Amino acid sequence: MAGGRTLGTEAGWSRSAEPTPRWRALLERARHGRASEQILVDDDDRPVRRAPEFDDDRPVRRAPEFDELEPDGRPSLRWQPTPAPAPEPDGADRAAAVIRADLGGPRVLAFANPKGGVHKTTATALAAATAGSVRGRGVIAWDDNELRGTLGLRAGSARHARTIRHLLADLAQLEIHDGIQLRARLDDYLKHASDGTYDVLAGEEDPRFAQKLDPYIVRRVLEVLCRTHDVVCVDTGNNVESPNWRTVIQSADQLVVTTVPREDAAFTADWMLDLLEEAGLGRMVKNAVTLLSCPTPTRSPLLDDLAAHFRNRTRAVAVVPYDPQLESGSNIDYAMLHPATKWAWLRATATILEPFAR
Ligand SMILES: Nc1ncnc2c1ncn2[C@@H]1O[C@H](COP(=O)(O)OP(=O)(O)O)[C@@H](O)[C@H]1O
Ligand SMILES: [Mg+2]
Repeated sequence: MAGGRTLGTEAGWSRSAEPTPRWRALLERARHGRASEQILVDDDDRPVRRAPEFDDDRPVRRAPEFDELEPDGRPSLRWQPTPAPAPEPDGADRAAAVIRADLGGPRVLAFANPKGGVHKTTATALAAATAGSVRGRGVIAWDDNELRGTLGLRAGSARHARTIRHLLADLAQLEIHDGIQLRARLDDYLKHASDGTYDVLAGEEDPRFAQKLDPYIVRRVLEVLCRTHDVVCVDTGNNVESPNWRTVIQSADQLVVTTVPREDAAFTADWMLDLLEEAGLGRMVKNAVTLLSCPTPTRSPLLDDLAAHFRNRTRAVAVVPYDPQLESGSNIDYAMLHPATKWAWLRATATILEPFAR
């Protein structure tokens, strides 16, 4: 466990956000370039020596020039996302087979990082879009942001304005149903992705509503979603102090640490993992998948070091590229993404679901 003062307002769920020596070493290395051998520190912050995990000779992609974007902002054919995924024979088929597999029951995937702007909402939608486009049905994205969640705006059709608030109001009448009837009734509260590949349960605009999402209610909502869907992707929002956030994390089958390759974002993700370990969720941390999502077309100098760091702490790291289609923050249209973005998401989603595939 990394060092750091525990504030302890509630045992295990509150800790200082001071960078540890382990974290400082990682940033120093990224800032000043690599020495011939990497200096890392162990869980007790003692320096350890280990071989580099990455091949430093990998080609670095250049940023797109202005003339590589079409007038409407779409990439021209010459534009390539960064980092470019390595070609893998049969890789797409294998990834699709994992995503399509029997998952041994409904699976809740929690996308988390308490920092805003680290691509959580986008990642939740894209994981749902990828799983939905492969599985064909039974995938939902729940915007569990307590404050002005944007998933409903970015991913759902405007067929109605119902949100989690409306669902809660009618939850008891809904829960008594089963099978097709339950699915049909729940559908009144859901939006659909424009291509119909996944459903969206939108969050509530009114911040006063957040206090209604106590652990009992959140578990009931997850239970209904799991009775009607096989893959439940939850955008967990930014408030680690809320009972809602904690309940979703504790109920999740898979934690997906979502971050961009920036110091503040990745540090907050790392801090969250310490917090979860202190709360007794060490196994969840070890089994987590870290998504490193690129916010710019240029390769971050931190990317490789952060990937190595989170590969040490979590089960796997998946890097997903910048895509100009996603930058505007408007409607997420899976079909319009660059093929390399779709491919990266196929691999990332397969990595996330792999432990469950039978
Ligand atoms: N892969 C990407 N490429 C380019 N821009 C992106 C990508 N993913 C997200 N973005 C941009 O980053 C912004 C913040 O992402 P968002 O998912 O809303 O973060 P969070 O939910 O963590 O606050 C989005 O509005 C979008 O403009
Ligand atoms: Mg968000």
